[in-house]
Amino acid sequence: MTLAGFFPETEMPDAGWWRVLWPDPAATLRALGVTPGLAAVDLCCGDGTFTAALARLTGRTVHAIDIDPACLDRARAAVRRDGGGDCRFVAGDAMAVDRLLPGPVDYVLLANALHGVPDQSRLARAIAAALRPGGRLAVINWHARPREQTTVLGEPHGPATKTRMPPEVVVALLAPAGFRMEGIVELPPYHYGSVFMLGCG
Ligand SMILES: C[S@@+](CC[C@H](N)C(=O)[O-])C[C@H]1O[C@@H](n2cnc3c(N)ncnc32)[C@H](O)[C@@H]1O
Repeated sequence: MTLAGFFPETEMPDAGWWRVLWPDPAATLRALGVTPGLAAVDLCCGDGTFTAALARLTGRTVHAIDIDPACLDRARAAVRRDGGGDCRFVAGDAMAVDRLLPGPVDYVLLANALHGVPDQSRLARAIAAALRPGGRLAVINWHARPREQTTVLGEPHGPATKTRMPPEVVVALLAPAGFRMEGIVELPPYHYGSVFMLGCG
């Protein structure tokens, strides 16, 4: 069954090969500027690859949002298993992220989803509306390499080549919503993360 509003090319990957790419979610988050005390959102959290680590590192309630309730069930189980901190799981459409939260947050993580969003500019504005001024958005993307070159355990994986976004495209997309890029980090072997600050108006 297709969920209304589901972003194409963003199905949750199988855990077997996905874990190979993300052996240390906490290290990834630290590289993306996650620090104690941040009020954070794991947007399009999927099965919770980063959710427990985000809660542990921030020490605050993490709002974990996904449109697929089955993913949220698995994310809940992963947080229990990984001894994650306090998490609030929300079934909803990322396009309405600002309306799914009790108030403005400091940090939004959007991992492995932006490439599939049909109206990326509208999502950027919704995320901006969810953040406090000076808040940060971290985007994790596959590098824009041909899919046949991004192999894991001997098989090509990841979204279709034509949907993959180079960093400069992400920067240009987010700028009109008020985001200024602060830095890029390599997340080998196939990903990069970019961190943006929301302008103070
Ligand atoms: C490729 S998975 C990535 C999950 C996680 N962020 C990670 O990196 O492991 C993308 C997730 O986006 C979710 N998704 C797709 N469309 C969505 C929407 N409109 N609103 C919220 N979540 C959505 C999917 O259910 C899926 O769990």
